[in-house]
Amino acid sequence: MKSGKISESVFRRAGELRREIAGHDHRYYVLAEPVISDEAYDMMMRELQELEAEHPGLRTPDSPTLRVGGEPTREFPVVAHSPPMLSLGNAYSPEEAREFDRRIRDLLASDPPSYSVEMKLDGVAVALQYRDGVLTRGATRGNGTEGDEITSNIRTIRSVPLRLIGDPPFSPFLEVRGEVLMMKDEFEKMNKQRAEQGEKTFVNPRNAAAGTLKMQDPGVVARRPLAFFAYSLISASEEGSHEENLRELRRLGFPVNKHHVLVRTIDEAIAFWEHWETRRDSLPYEIDGVVIKIDSLRHQRMLGNIAKSPRWAVALKFSSRKGETTVTDILLQVGRTGALTPVAILEPVFIGGTTVSRATLHNIDYILELDLRIGDKVVVERGGDVIPKIIQVAEGPRRRGVRRFRMPRGCPECGSPIQRVEGEANHYCVNNRCPAQVRGRIEHFASRSAMDIEGLGEAAVRVLVDLALVRTAADLYTLHKAKEQLVNLERWGEKSVHNLLQSIEKSKQRPLHRLVFALGIGHVGAGVAAVLADRFRSIRSLSEASRDDLVAIDAIGPEIAASIVAFFSNPENRKIVRQLEAAGVQMTGSTEPKGTALEGKTFVITGALAGGSRDDFKKRITGEGGKVLSSVSRKLDYLLAGADPGSKLERARELGIQVISEEEFEQMIGNSR
Ligand code: IVH
Repeated sequence: MKSGKISESVFRRAGELRREIAGHDHRYYVLAEPVISDEAYDMMMRELQELEAEHPGLRTPDSPTLRVGGEPTREFPVVAHSPPMLSLGNAYSPEEAREFDRRIRDLLASDPPSYSVEMKLDGVAVALQYRDGVLTRGATRGNGTEGDEITSNIRTIRSVPLRLIGDPPFSPFLEVRGEVLMMKDEFEKMNKQRAEQGEKTFVNPRNAAAGTLKMQDPGVVARRPLAFFAYSLISASEEGSHEENLRELRRLGFPVNKHHVLVRTIDEAIAFWEHWETRRDSLPYEIDGVVIKIDSLRHQRMLGNIAKSPRWAVALKFSSRKGETTVTDILLQVGRTGALTPVAILEPVFIGGTTVSRATLHNIDYILELDLRIGDKVVVERGGDVIPKIIQVAEGPRRRGVRRFRMPRGCPECGSPIQRVEGEANHYCVNNRCPAQVRGRIEHFASRSAMDIEGLGEAAVRVLVDLALVRTAADLYTLHKAKEQLVNLERWGEKSVHNLLQSIEKSKQRPLHRLVFALGIGHVGAGVAAVLADRFRSIRSLSEASRDDLVAIDAIGPEIAASIVAFFSNPENRKIVRQLEAAGVQMTGSTEPKGTALEGKTFVITGALAGGSRDDFKKRITGEGGKVLSSVSRKLDYLLAGADPGSKLERARELGIQVISEEEFEQMIGNSR
């Protein structure tokens, strides 16, 4: 560390770097229009960090180096909010929004309002202060009058400007309020990581954002992906409008949510709410309604506040995705591997647009953790696209007559003994011929990402197994001999039997990796199957591989290797494989060398693709030297988007990532149609 005078050129260079980096942060995180590579950005950041380390006098409160986290704090100082941070009155139905509108029209009489309608963001409200254009204080809402000062944590949020942009003069003091959020995909990713590391997971993105903002070490906060949207500019001005303020916020460098409309009637506001009620899942962040605000600041001031909420705004909420209901029973579902999954049977309850009558309970440990008994009242949550889950037993005294769930001694399907495997949470039915396991294996074999046999879903499989026409996957290929019997079955008929037999016939030509996956070898998912098919190129040589051959492959660990060896040393499985081969199922893969058209490029696939399943495309991308990732980040090269692409597309657009269609993809690999 050098002390003493800082030369003018160093001083100038540090200023230059700060400005440059701030400009790139804004282009990247706010405008989603990056102009330089990550490497170039990192280089500038490193240079600035080195300069500041050498000359501590260069550190300024708006230095982008603070974004990676400053010193940990022991306790957050309490600061006051002036004016207080208000909360919003709620409306739970269009009718309640119309009541709000009538009240407003009465009060404003001859001067009817315009409404600015925007997203009600489901995050954490914060207030940011800027003095002479520099962020000097960030605070949580707290109780509205006082909150915690969390400036170092706020500085780590890349889309929050540390210094205002736009042309000065700025007013010497400015306060901006808005919402800190965690994006849904980042939330999932973080929770997955935490679960893998045995850490507690967060219930939803809002809790994750709130928990993160309260952390004492900004270095850790900096590694948690938070986002920010500004929605209010505290100004002394009597003139102007909310919409103008939003434009001003954008000009000053703040991210402002793009989904807002200016309307003249409450019906238009309600239409906006209806529009988003059905599309909320397509957004990359959570919203829980829309906020209807009177646009004119003069009107706002005339109307004032009632207690802790403004009279000039209302939150029109979406219907809740949580509900309370009773667990009437807990059943055990037997999967293809024999694993027993407890499922809660619920008194049907309408949650967020659908009726929920079952929820998975994963395993016995989950039931113990919830301390759930049959007969308990529970809180059920239905997230964006996930299966309903029980998040807790409802508060209050437990009902009488509830009973604990006990693992039975025998399998509910076949009565065979149940075993718990050392070190696993699951119980298993030990009988390989258990009808539920047989059905599960056939369903898996026929499923879309395996052999893709159309018309062979759960119901059809049940019939075939019940009639003992099918016991193993190999039996499917002799099913044509029983055509007469099938045609005479109730509800099947000539045409559907014909179609089914044809799609079974077609499945004989599936590529090797699908067959490897379809066999249902323990621990061999679609990805591992692709690796195996690629390496061994035939079922025969895979079946002859030793444990050592297998663990020598990158993606294969000892557990998978052991499972593969065990599978092929089982005489029953060997017989099935022989029968499949005899029936004419393709048992070898192509020996063509790998292509290099996509060498080093990364892809994320989203939406439905016409030219094949997601796994097919994955295989083709890796076959050309590319890589498929699961979530969109700034490092991604391409988003391959099919029909109904959902939130990934939105995220990619926000980050300025190149989005390609199926056709463009075909062209990239020289396959133009
Ligand atoms: S305006 C006086 N706008 O809702 C106006 N709030 O119940 C209050 N919120 O604490 C803030 N999205 O956390 C406003 N577009 C939005 C909002 C929003 C979410 C939250 C905010 C606030 C709470 C008020």
